Amino acid sequence: MKRICSKEIQQFEREHINVVRSISPECMVLLRNEGVLPLGRAGKIALYGSGARNTVKGGTGSGDVNVRHFVNVEEGLRNAGFDITTRAWLDAYDRILDKARREFADELKVKAKTSGMPPFLFFMGKVVPEPDYELPLEGGGDTALYVLARNSGEGTDRADVPGDVRLTETEIRDIRALNDKYEKFILVLNVGGMVDLAPVGDIKAVLLVSQLGVSTGDALADVLLGKAYPSGKLTMTWAGMKAYPSTDGFGDLDDTLYKEGIYVGYRYFDKAGIIPAYPFGYGLGYTAFLVEPKSLKADTETITVTVSVKNTGSFAGKEVVQVYYSAPEGRLDKPYQELAAYAKTKELRPYEEQELSISFATAAMASFDEENASYVLEKGRYYIRVGNCSRNTHIAGAVELDGDAVTERVRRICRESVVEERIPSNEPVSYEGEADEMIRACVIKIEADRIACVGHTYSEDTSDPASGEHILWDDVRNGKRSVKEFVQSLSDENLAYLCIGAYQSADECGAGGVIGNAGMLVAGAAGETTHRLDDIGMESLIMADGPAGLRLSTCYTLGEDGMARSAVMPFSTGLEEYMEIPEMERMKAKMEKQVEEAGENVYYQYGTAIPIGTAIAQSWNEELCGVCGDIVGSEMELFSVNLWLAPGLNIQRSPLCGRNFEYYSEDPVISGNISAAITASVQRHAGCGTTIKHYMCNNQETNRFFSNSVVNERAIREIYLKGFEICVKRAQPHALMTSYNLLNGEHTCSSKALITQVLRNEWGFEGIVMSDWRVTGSMRKNAGKYSSASAAGCVRAGNDIVMPGGDEDKDDILTALNDASHSYTLSRGDLLACAKRVCDMVELLYKR
Ligand code: BGC
Repeated sequence: MKRICSKEIQQFEREHINVVRSISPECMVLLRNEGVLPLGRAGKIALYGSGARNTVKGGTGSGDVNVRHFVNVEEGLRNAGFDITTRAWLDAYDRILDKARREFADELKVKAKTSGMPPFLFFMGKVVPEPDYELPLEGGGDTALYVLARNSGEGTDRADVPGDVRLTETEIRDIRALNDKYEKFILVLNVGGMVDLAPVGDIKAVLLVSQLGVSTGDALADVLLGKAYPSGKLTMTWAGMKAYPSTDGFGDLDDTLYKEGIYVGYRYFDKAGIIPAYPFGYGLGYTAFLVEPKSLKADTETITVTVSVKNTGSFAGKEVVQVYYSAPEGRLDKPYQELAAYAKTKELRPYEEQELSISFATAAMASFDEENASYVLEKGRYYIRVGNCSRNTHIAGAVELDGDAVTERVRRICRESVVEERIPSNEPVSYEGEADEMIRACVIKIEADRIACVGHTYSEDTSDPASGEHILWDDVRNGKRSVKEFVQSLSDENLAYLCIGAYQSADECGAGGVIGNAGMLVAGAAGETTHRLDDIGMESLIMADGPAGLRLSTCYTLGEDGMARSAVMPFSTGLEEYMEIPEMERMKAKMEKQVEEAGENVYYQYGTAIPIGTAIAQSWNEELCGVCGDIVGSEMELFSVNLWLAPGLNIQRSPLCGRNFEYYSEDPVISGNISAAITASVQRHAGCGTTIKHYMCNNQETNRFFSNSVVNERAIREIYLKGFEICVKRAQPHALMTSYNLLNGEHTCSSKALITQVLRNEWGFEGIVMSDWRVTGSMRKNAGKYSSASAAGCVRAGNDIVMPGGDEDKDDILTALNDASHSYTLSRGDLLACAKRVCDMVELLYKR
């Protein structure tokens, strides 16, 4: 294992920082621009707003990345030669924020005591509310920038209140005043998700910078000056919170009813005929494009549209071409349109043109028919639409089916319908000339009975007794014995250990048993597979968080036992300096002593923070995903991490989900494709794999260990499973993490239907499945309706590893073995199947 002993900046860091800076503009979305941008030259600039100095590089929690340094907006502007005229404002704001943080932390400390939760957990994801204040807006120059920041993270959801989803009175007042005062004014959004811009809807220029990791400030300066241009598009609809159907009932402690069914995001807004502030797929650039469909080809397997894109403006740019289909209403209701595929052009100079050919599977337009447990293309006309935004498309042609075609038969996940859905009933969206386009559309006829139907065999791997042999892992490594023979030779106890992560008591663990820090060989790694088989030569798989880079401890010491012990807190809530939790203070003091005693033996690992998930998706560019995956993969190799606990691809069902910034989109096709592209690139690195998460319907943080998502099967399959399905089929990620929440009353990690039946049997997943951290544990008692998951339940469902594991998990598994009275009785075969998959993965990832 290579270790970096010098604190000096390393060559790989410099390279990665430059790469992140160069790709970041593609992730930014220009929402408005009335001739303000680009600025042309760096002169005097008046800089205001919460994110000017306190820029957010990415959210909090396990999705945070510990870096050496990142460039905030103030520094980025200064680096680019701007003369900032508002130092006094920025200093005064800092003092106000510091006071607000202190008061907020004091309030939380009191609440934590009565909550019954460990304070560290209680603080997770809590963000200080944006304070109100009155500061003079006196910066010189004719140009002003207001950077509005919002932060969030795991453990807490966002709220539709001023200072979070809404703007505060202070923000509205100052933004409006600055827009009037300065000739050139830009509202910059340093946010991980939607903010309701209604009160400032007419501002001259609005740039969604998002949260871009290490180079946020430099990349912004590049775009302001026109050295680069924004070319991102929204992957989530922006509207007022009341307009989202998911707002009703969001955050219920026990049961969250997904009453909107498949009508999530634009599928809802289109069908309900609501005009959102900014639609899905929307984004401007510094130039304009003409997007024209040229031809449509279709057969029983594939649909291909050819589109020409011409840059008609005077600045270079890239355009995203989006292809949607509108399926006919039949027995099943249908959205107005659904995204089928998309492509981004190369950089086009003024008047340059490019022809793109965009294809997708005909069967991808099928809907899930709950009654017949099958996917069906219903009889009728499927219009294919092409455009550069969901609300700016034109009909490229149509495909007509002469009858119903069943494309796939499956086994049901839910026995029955669990929630009464509301289908939007207004007049759906439409545009002038749409009816004419429909009449004129060229129609390609397809015979339904020539479309192939996929079937599945459902199998469970649960055989094999103990062999009683003694086999060393070396024999497997050398090809003398098979993995199967090896696991057959193990005792029940060792099999159980393979099915739970490596765990230590708080004392053994250096930085304590803090969640997300159970790694032993790599400091700050979130976990590892067991060490109990070390003496027979088996390696452990080392796992570290993402998705905005690799989350590790930046500094650690190495013991003679080979254990890497964090010398800094690897996990931040963003508020610890105000928390004064005695346990954490003790931990810090212990670490300081650890460093002192280690002398020269102190090691450093500074990973690179890449753009957050949503920002990456906003690029709509799979090549860019590949670049991000490559940064992560090369750092995994360098720091000896096997499994990256990312990408996170939960659907952005509501803007209120506190972890949306880690996720990609409200649309499953984007979520699936982006995570597949990142996975492919990470897995090109020797010994590295991704862990796609959180499988599935993990769409809120409130009461996250015990929250039950109540969803009908059509929505489960068409919306919430779809992205995972695309990623698994396209890129075969080495691992998958189940979620904390329950789905229709069952913990997802205990769901045989989701793990064995769908993931493995239907999609052919070949990797390992792990639980989310401490889903079985007693992090806290739930006062509500549901209880913790059980380790035995995990094994029975095919969730191979319970992370990070503990003695109770091992005991639960061993007790369940052949005990008919346990609620999840296990056979040795059940245990063996999970353990074998873990060993297969160790073999695969250590075969360098
Ligand atoms: C998060 C996961 C993360 C894990 C390990 C959990 O709290 O939900 O996303 O990978 O911790 O840090």
